[in-house]
Amino acid sequence: MRVIKTENYEETSRRAAEIVAEQIRRKPDSVLGLATGSSPVGMYDELVRMELDFSAITTVNLDEYYGLAPENEQSYRYFMNQHLFDRVNIHKERTYVPNGLAADPEKECAEYDRRIEELGGIDLQVLGMGLNGHIGFNEPGDSFPVGTHLVTLADSTIAANARFFNSESEVPRQALSMGLKQIICARKILLIVHGKAKEETLNKALNGPVTPHLPASLLQLHPDVTVVCSFNE
Ligand code: GLP
Repeated sequence: MRVIKTENYEETSRRAAEIVAEQIRRKPDSVLGLATGSSPVGMYDELVRMELDFSAITTVNLDEYYGLAPENEQSYRYFMNQHLFDRVNIHKERTYVPNGLAADPEKECAEYDRRIEELGGIDLQVLGMGLNGHIGFNEPGDSFPVGTHLVTLADSTIAANARFFNSESEVPRQALSMGLKQIICARKILLIVHGKAKEETLNKALNGPVTPHLPASLLQLHPDVTVVCSFNE
């Protein structure tokens, strides 16, 4: 595991973007696993500025709120279009985000896993980390969720994500999330963590016991993880 501690969010975003850019240059038809949330926003801005060639890239996103349409401004599909897909030369039909409106979520999850397998797995998985140590929407619990699944969000996650909505009551209570199997099977992982509030949790995740009560701790078992982090604010 490589840990790059930077001075601030800008530097974290730059260093993270360099890692993604290197992957795209080395393998122009890479499968990138992508994340939402505030952590990777600066990295997406950097990637746009770098004018990379996304024409042969495929992306699979970690998660989506269950119940939100792709056009809903709070959906993760909308987020990805806004922060990256609409700003680079990617082919939208090769960008995958779980369907938040799927009538049969179990079927949608199974198809999502099958798609990732058909694509040959994920070359580089970008991750953020929730305040409670979740990755994707894999919340702390008594076991590690394996495949893509419908998850009931932790109260602390609903409270943390309320800042993106008009009120906490508008935050969906469920989401579709890639499981830990797809994440841990990615050939490379890039974890972006910013903020004092996450410093202690990250420290436990990287140096404490590997436990489903702190899903990010599972990353200790992966052979190629880079963590880019800053805790200045
Ligand atoms: C969200 C997302 C995660 C994200 C995390 C951290 O709930 N589902 O994929 O990594 O929480 O979010 P942020 O970067 O805004 O702190």
